[in-house]
Amino acid sequence: MSKIIIESGVLKNIGEMAKENFANVKTFAVVSDDNVAPLYGKAVADALADAGFGVISYTIKAGEKSKNMVQYAKIQNHLAESKMTRSDAIVALGGGVVGDLAGFVAATYLRGVEFVQVPTTLLAMVDSSVGGKTAIDIPAGKNLVGAFHQPKMVVCDPLTLNTLPTEIFSSGYAEVIKHGMIKSKKLLKMLAGKEFDIKLSDIIEENINIKRDIVSRDEFDTGERQLLNFGHTVGHAIEKLSKYKILHGRAVAIGMYIMTKAAVKKGVCDAECLEVLDSLLCEYGLPDKANYKPKELYEAALGDKKRMGDTITEIIPREVGFCELQKMPVEELLEWITMGVSE
Ligand code: NAD
Ligand code: GLY
Repeated sequence: MSKIIIESGVLKNIGEMAKENFANVKTFAVVSDDNVAPLYGKAVADALADAGFGVISYTIKAGEKSKNMVQYAKIQNHLAESKMTRSDAIVALGGGVVGDLAGFVAATYLRGVEFVQVPTTLLAMVDSSVGGKTAIDIPAGKNLVGAFHQPKMVVCDPLTLNTLPTEIFSSGYAEVIKHGMIKSKKLLKMLAGKEFDIKLSDIIEENINIKRDIVSRDEFDTGERQLLNFGHTVGHAIEKLSKYKILHGRAVAIGMYIMTKAAVKKGVCDAECLEVLDSLLCEYGLPDKANYKPKELYEAALGDKKRMGDTITEIIPREVGFCELQKMPVEELLEWITMGVSE
């Protein structure tokens, strides 16, 4: 499992930490995006250089649209032209887009090199930087090409969140609420108790613990880990239909709401579950609906990677802090979405 560090101001120590954990690495390639690189790229590169590493950089245009084959190939080519070898490593400095893309490059460059996740969004800290899922999008859908590749180290500096635009910060809360909905009444209570001055670093740590526990029992997503996809079938459909204008977290929030509302209507979930979800989405500025018809959402969801032939495994909430996996014929998903969307 990856070594995970959560500490305010830790970014400036990344060189020393790399020295302790990457004995064979000579050069790090720092992959970032054009919002994050100007803010934190120099601090990271300087810290690595001061610790004696060679540093090369690659910056992508910010946003989901960069998580694609073209950027993937360009980064690979840049690494090769810079003579990066198997004993060199990659630093993914940014949100989930940079983490997924640079992680997939690390999984495949020279058949795999080590990498470090340095998440700079709340979503990336609590979810995407942990667990080793890496991927890119293709025109047919999100995350359809990827690999499992664990980062050797995850370095979370909550101070970096100070520069996040509000909507992006709040989008990260969707994955936090998701962890509470699937596994932890305690986390849901922490969230609803914002007024009791819960520290953000405690929320990040609680989420990482939940995710790390699940991944340690099911690294390759054949069972329990699938719970982490709560709200994601519909969420990914919304992202795709919006041409990635709707942020991942916001789309997942809507996906969770639709599935929970349908579960309550079907009589398989406590009504309290929907009340808790509804009030948290509202408290954290997250949406519960998008302007797409059930049929559109269903059609867009058919390409989901959780589909196996004519069935799909969905994550169904049962009670507060508890969800279960349910395999269903793929056409049944239309019924769920329709029930979840209608008043
Ligand atoms: P993102 O990486 O696009 O970041 C959102 C925006 O915030 C970008 O414009 C970025 O430049 C900017 N930004 C990042 N850090 C900043 C900072 N500190 N200050 C100012 N601006 C900053 O999006 P995201 O929400 O972090 O991640 C979404 C992606 O994560 C999706 O592609 C999703 O599929 C993926 N994801 C992956 C996993 C996984 O397990 N691998 C889990 C959840 C989500
Ligand atoms: N974000 C889903 C997973 O890591 O499994």
